[in-house]
Parts: sequence; C-alpha cells; structure tokens
Amino acid sequence: MSGADLADAPLLRACRGLPAERVPVWFMRQAGRALPEYRALRGTGSILDAVRDPALAAEITLQPVRRYGVDAAILYSDIVVPAAAIGFGVDITPGVGPVVTEPFSSAADLARLRPFVPEEDAPYVADTVRLVVAELGATPLIGFAGAPFTVASYLIEGRPSRTYGRTKAMLHGEPELFAALLDRLADMAIASLLAQVEAGASAIQLFDSWAGALAPDVYEAHVLPASRKVLDALAATGVPRIHFGVGTGELLHLMGEAGADVVGVDWRVPLDVARQRVPGKAVQGNLDPAVCLAPWPVVAERTRDVLARNGGRPGHVFNLGHGVLPELDPGVLAEVVALVHEEGRADG
Ligand code: CP3
Repeated sequence: MSGADLADAPLLRACRGLPAERVPVWFMRQAGRALPEYRALRGTGSILDAVRDPALAAEITLQPVRRYGVDAAILYSDIVVPAAAIGFGVDITPGVGPVVTEPFSSAADLARLRPFVPEEDAPYVADTVRLVVAELGATPLIGFAGAPFTVASYLIEGRPSRTYGRTKAMLHGEPELFAALLDRLADMAIASLLAQVEAGASAIQLFDSWAGALAPDVYEAHVLPASRKVLDALAATGVPRIHFGVGTGELLHLMGEAGADVVGVDWRVPLDVARQRVPGKAVQGNLDPAVCLAPWPVVAERTRDVLARNGGRPGHVFNLGHGVLPELDPGVLAEVVALVHEEGRADG
C-alpha cells in the first residue's frame, strides 16, 4: 500500500474534521483479555514483559485489527512503560493495574525521574511500531502516552485509587512540587510520543483517564498546562492528536483548548451535547462499554443513537466511551464495527 492510501485513511480524515468514506471505528483496549487469541498468546507473565518483546507486542497489536476489522490499530503498550523503563519501580499487577514500590512523595523523588531516552531506555517500543506499521499497510497505527496527571496519580498513590487523595493533597498543598512532577512527566510523554511517530505511528492519543476527578478550575490551573505542553510539542509532527479522559463532561471545553485535534468523550455526555462543548474539534466516542454486554438489539440501538447524535457531521471517530470490558463477547464488537461501517456516513 502506498503512503497516499494511508493519508486518506478514514481515521486520519475524521481526526482532521474532513469528510470520510465511512465513520472510522476502533476501540480503546481492543487488544486485551476479551480476545481468546490474546489470552492464549499472553500467558501469565507481566504485561510489561510482553511489551518488551516486539514480535509478541506487534502480534497482539494486530490481533484486534484482524478480528474486528477496525479502522486503526493502537500500540500494545501501557501508560507506565516510560516510568518503568527509567527504573522508577512500577509493575502492573494483573487485575489491579500499575503498582509502584516506592511512591512519589517529596522533592527528593524528583531525582528518581531522570529524562526518558526512548532509543536507550525502551528501544523495543519503536521496534514494535515498525513491525506493526509494516503489516498494516493503509490502516493507521495510533501511538499513545499517559497524560502527566494520570501517570502522576499512579506514581503518587502507588496503586489505582478511587479518591486520588494523596494526589490532590500534593496538588493543593505543594503546588510547586506537583508542577515539577507534571513537567517531568510531560517531557517523558513528549519523548515517548515523538519516538512512536518517528517510527511510523500516524496518530497519537494522550490518555488523561482520571482527569475527570478534578474540578474545572483546578484542572485548568494545575493540569492543563502540562497536557498542553505535550500536545503542543507534537504539533510539528503533523499527526492528529486525540485527548481522552473519563468523566470529563465538565472539562471537555478545556481539554479541547489544551491543543488536541480530537476530544474523546465518555458515555456520560451525549455526543451532540459534547460537540457543542468543543466547537471546531473532532470528537471520539462514545458508546458505553457495558452496553455491549446487553442483548444485540440494545447494542445496535445504542450504536445507532451515537451515530444519530453525530448526525453525519465529519469529524467523528466512533469508539467506546472507555476500554473494552474483559468479559465482553468479541463477536459483539465485530457486529458494532459492521453496523458503524454500514450506517455511519459522514456526509460532509
Ligand atoms: O488495546 C489497547 O488499548 C492498547 C493497549 C493499552 C494497554 N494499556 C494495555 C493493557 C493501552 C492504550 C493502555 C493504557 C492505559 N493503561 C491506561 C489509559 C486507558 C484507560 O483504560 O483509561 C491506563 C489508566 C492504564 C493503566 C493500567 N494498565 C490499568 C488500569 C490496567 C488494568 C489492570 C487489569 O488487569 O485490569 C493496566 C493493565 C493493562 N494494560 C492490560 C492491558 C491489555 C490488562 C492486563 C493484561 O492483559 O495483562
């Protein structure tokens, strides 16, 4: 396939707000435990070990493209890979998520966050990107990084949290330290994303999954500047930038202002309402992942509702409002892709 074909890929056109031949669709966490072929390949080791094995990580990245017929692959990796690669002491415990041996708690811990040099610290990521892109042809690969706030929440809490108590205590109580931490993490995300684009990723997504825990004024003052630094640093690459979080209905306008081309929307805000909050931006979403556990007529009805709320406007990337649930029947997602491709038309 030629480069021209890739440039015309529905995903890339939709991210740029251009009319596309169909509404593109992919799923966050499309590579993962819902797929029996994923479980068979992965075995029981740490996901971080799988990420360090380019042949394995590339195959896992490609599995959902084959199975679902989605319009994009997303790199099989994790938002804590750069922090783990510089030796911060992070692992991912199955069924739990990222766990940090010695959480970030004081200015002394900044010394543990040295700059991330992708080609030395994590060369396997670019190797995986190159293997995947060689297989994908005209299907885009989405690279990604964790946004500074969401990665900071793991480093500070030491494990997944419901309240983000320590994170917010530092944000409000030691704002200069918090800003210094986010600035380091912004630089890590920039280095990681630039390396992925350099190796062939043709769009990027910045995951600020847990930003929705913050009030808008707090987000704007303490978090947005670091995310903007990341998104601005990617501008010169020319690849579309997607910015996603969960529970971010009241932050959508700010997440748009942070410099993204596409704003991800979870299922809590109807897509037509979300569009009004991010004028001029493309949107990505927003089927509730749990709806996919319901009988097919319900899934179809809710899928059509998302498409209807977009109303054929260009600049819609169909996705779930958050990641695929592991207990999901993969056949349902294949049906969703077929339905979106059949009925979703961005007429321009
Ligand atoms: O298909 C894809 O989306 C690409 C792969 C991907 C993974 N993690 C692989 C993974 C992506 C994009 C991520 C990003 C990520 N990691 C985020 C942002 C997206 C989101 O869901 O909000 C976050 C918050 C993390 C941190 C993290 N890593 C969590 C909370 C977990 C879940 C723990 C569990 O076991 O339920 C992980 C582990 C993880 N990352 C898995 C996968 C496929 C599951 C564990 C495994 O298969 O070993």
